[in-house]
Amino acid sequence: MTFISPPPMSPLPTTLRWDAGTLYLLDQTRLPLETVMEPQATVEQVWDSIKQLKVRGAPAIGIAGAYGLVVGLQGQTHRDRADFLQELDRLVAYLDSARPTAVNLRWALTRMTRVAQGLTAANPAEILAALEQAAIAIHDEDRQLCRAIGEHGLPLIQPGMGVLTHCNAGSLATAELGTALAPLYLAHQQGRAFRVYADETRPLLQGARLTSWELQQSGLDVTLICDSMAAHLMSQGLIDLVIVGTDRVAANGDVANKIGTLSVAIAAQYFGIPFYVACPYSTIDFATATGNAIVIEERDEAEVTHFGDRRTAPLGIPVRNPAFDVTPHALVTGLITDRGLLRPPYADSLRQHYAQV
Ligand code: MRU
Repeated sequence: MTFISPPPMSPLPTTLRWDAGTLYLLDQTRLPLETVMEPQATVEQVWDSIKQLKVRGAPAIGIAGAYGLVVGLQGQTHRDRADFLQELDRLVAYLDSARPTAVNLRWALTRMTRVAQGLTAANPAEILAALEQAAIAIHDEDRQLCRAIGEHGLPLIQPGMGVLTHCNAGSLATAELGTALAPLYLAHQQGRAFRVYADETRPLLQGARLTSWELQQSGLDVTLICDSMAAHLMSQGLIDLVIVGTDRVAANGDVANKIGTLSVAIAAQYFGIPFYVACPYSTIDFATATGNAIVIEERDEAEVTHFGDRRTAPLGIPVRNPAFDVTPHALVTGLITDRGLLRPPYADSLRQHYAQV
């Protein structure tokens, strides 16, 4: 195998920006052809951006939700305190309804609610100012979580490896380095030469449009494949390691991630290839005992019946479009977290590392 020797890494794309009280989101539905930062004027626009996947990826939608709450409350400080807090509760429930599977959205909104509840003597303007700082803190913290995940996963990335990833758990899905892609970025910065294989990720092509784009932009050696090619590449000895992100980790270590992840995990086990899942603590949901309890988002059937604007399936055909699947913990070799590389049994290792969360 020949590898592209690593050039210096160019800056990663900015997914979210908070600037003088305005939220800007990189419209990921337009990638890779256009990079447009879209200002979010209303909370309804933020909800729609999350729903339409203009902003997507578990940590990024948590951050967007936190800022979205601030956007929604910006014109509401004339209300009395009780009214203002009632409006806050309404907006939290509204934003949380945008997407059900990634727990980071609820996690961020719960953290924001606690900040408001803790300010027992504050007026609405003071609460709003504290919420803005809390959203900025969630955003900043995610940068650090990604870096910590990268450092804990770095020893897994060895020169000459082929590494498969599914969907996009990179810079575009987070505040900076990503989760699954963070160890790859750090290994690349250290001059290790390896090849990434990106599954295209039907139906919305996050692998083709986003992962291959951001890795290519940063000078990593990345090759795009269709989802159905992954097992074949494994059989050819081209894949040494799989790393994916996740939208929710249940207390027993079952992981929800983009549809198709389960097939990759089953194939990896068949071929004896380690299968790792990267996540920050904000994605771990101790309130969900097993993956069976995770709500799987069902999306519009047009995502399956069409390629872009072109219909590719017969009219009237019944369609299913679950956006995520659950990989049982038994198929997961390790969880690369911000607090270390966790090994099975995950019910124990998750509790040990996150006892106080
Ligand atoms: O539907 P999406 O694009 O939001 O799905 C994203 C994923 O499944 C990611 O792998 C997951 O959110 C982890 S992002 C660090």
